[in-house]
Amino acid sequence: MAIQNLPTHVFSGQRPGTSGLRKKVTVFMQPMYLENFVQALFDVLNGVAADGQIGTALHGQTLVLGGDGRFHNRTAVQTILKLAAANGVQRVLLGQGGILSTPAVSAVIRGRQAFGGIVLSASHNPGGPDGDFGIKYNASNGGPANETLTEAVYARTQTLTQVVLSDAPDIDINTLGTCQMEQMQVEVIDPVADYAVVMRRLFDFDMLRGMFKRGFTMRVDAMNAVGGPYAKAILEDELGAPAGTVVNATPLEDFGGLHPDPNPVNAEDLIAHMMRADAPDFGAAMDGDADRNMVVGRNFVVSPSDSLALMTAHARLIPGYKEGLLGVARSMPTSAAVDRVAKAMGLDCFETPTGWKFFGNLLDAGRVTLCGEESYGTGSSHVREKDGLWAILFWLSLQGATGRSVESLVREHWRTYGRNYYSRHDYEAIPTSVADALMANLRETLPALQGQVFGSRIVTVADDFAYTDPVDGSASVKQGVRLIFDDGARVIFRLSGTGTEGATLRVYLELHEPDAAQHDRPAQDKLADLIALADQVAGIHARTGMAAPSVAT
Ligand code: G1P
Ligand code: ZN
Repeated sequence: MAIQNLPTHVFSGQRPGTSGLRKKVTVFMQPMYLENFVQALFDVLNGVAADGQIGTALHGQTLVLGGDGRFHNRTAVQTILKLAAANGVQRVLLGQGGILSTPAVSAVIRGRQAFGGIVLSASHNPGGPDGDFGIKYNASNGGPANETLTEAVYARTQTLTQVVLSDAPDIDINTLGTCQMEQMQVEVIDPVADYAVVMRRLFDFDMLRGMFKRGFTMRVDAMNAVGGPYAKAILEDELGAPAGTVVNATPLEDFGGLHPDPNPVNAEDLIAHMMRADAPDFGAAMDGDADRNMVVGRNFVVSPSDSLALMTAHARLIPGYKEGLLGVARSMPTSAAVDRVAKAMGLDCFETPTGWKFFGNLLDAGRVTLCGEESYGTGSSHVREKDGLWAILFWLSLQGATGRSVESLVREHWRTYGRNYYSRHDYEAIPTSVADALMANLRETLPALQGQVFGSRIVTVADDFAYTDPVDGSASVKQGVRLIFDDGARVIFRLSGTGTEGATLRVYLELHEPDAAQHDRPAQDKLADLIALADQVAGIHARTGMAAPSVAT
């Protein structure tokens, strides 16, 4: 074992409140940068006392380790193993080749009662030598570490002066089985097996097999990211979907140049296939670490907010949810489509700040079964992460159980509940000072906006979203500026917490249309008044010089 003193410039901490540490690969490649963060994490997990003495809580414990296979994944795995061996970890369950999707890490931690796990991913951010890299810690419930822990790790990264790491040689991470690194055991596991067990428990695999046997067609775009091996193993190998159902199925270090963020802009190839006359019955895509999903029917794109609402409405058709749901939750900017379903079904519906970690307490406490975000994330109590392939299997099952197409399911839903027209506008790479000033100004004008009339609408709520966790009472403030109108329409502004270049302003636009005759308008047209209003109150064009968003989904 070697002890290395840490040069003082490598403090790698990132303010908590984001999903772990996410930076350019080049930043992560600085000597001792990753080491600083991981040592800080291990120190905190081991227990750092006030006098700086480090405890031994990790000793004898099992950690799960894996990532989305992006550039630097393999190097980082070896470094983390050496740090783990030197910091008293007894056993590491490592995905073969260093591969584990984010939901799979969660499933392995839970299924094997591990102490926790480390996920190597920058999610939907681009990969490759010029792309992004990331690391986050998940606790024994399988979910992202809470703010107390991330805050403690951050603080520790600022004071740490030495790391301990094994000088053992690299181990073979490609071969299944167990090997030793000093006193630590490393078990290289099949990345898919534990996850597949959970999926078999939730879904009727025989029914799904029957669908493919009868000729159901599907195209899953794994975007050269980690979802590929999972989708191939489950859909093609186990459920009998024809070979080639999953495309871009091999995880590549740079995602083959694709931006593995499944929205209609980045997954344009899938959209093009789904708009063709010979389109398959069902299309779907996942992001870099396979926790996000986009669901597409023939010539019909499903909005993630609608997806959550439909899943809630039809959950009882799925074996894993046949007893019904405990409740549902959505992030604040996600459309209120699910609220209408919950109300009709007499279910509790929670509105949380953006970020999956806010669902963790509700799931752990048994208050909710399904949760979702507008950003192509949906999931359930089966793990403590959102789950891309789970969502795809859910929608596949809905089609199998009802015999109806994606489009017909969604249209029927709109007829019953009305349509929540929805769009998110992202203004990317704004200088941080400009974005901060825009938000500060907006916050100052909130009192004046209250009660203001815009055309036929009156602002009934103008506030900065604050959330008190119903389980542990913790408070989160300044989670996004909301304008809610008397007809239920909403315009929401917040800055992204996951971007790595400047600031990204997100503007979320929503209105409810009960009239089925009005359900065929393009969303951007239907929302035009609200789009103009957003610019008027926030001065987006004037302040940023951007006349239009970088991406509108
Ligand atoms: C984005 C999404 C958010 C999601 C997060 C992590 O965060 O908007 O819903 O939980 O990525 O996948 P943001 O960049 O908006 O802070
Ligand atoms: Zn992701």
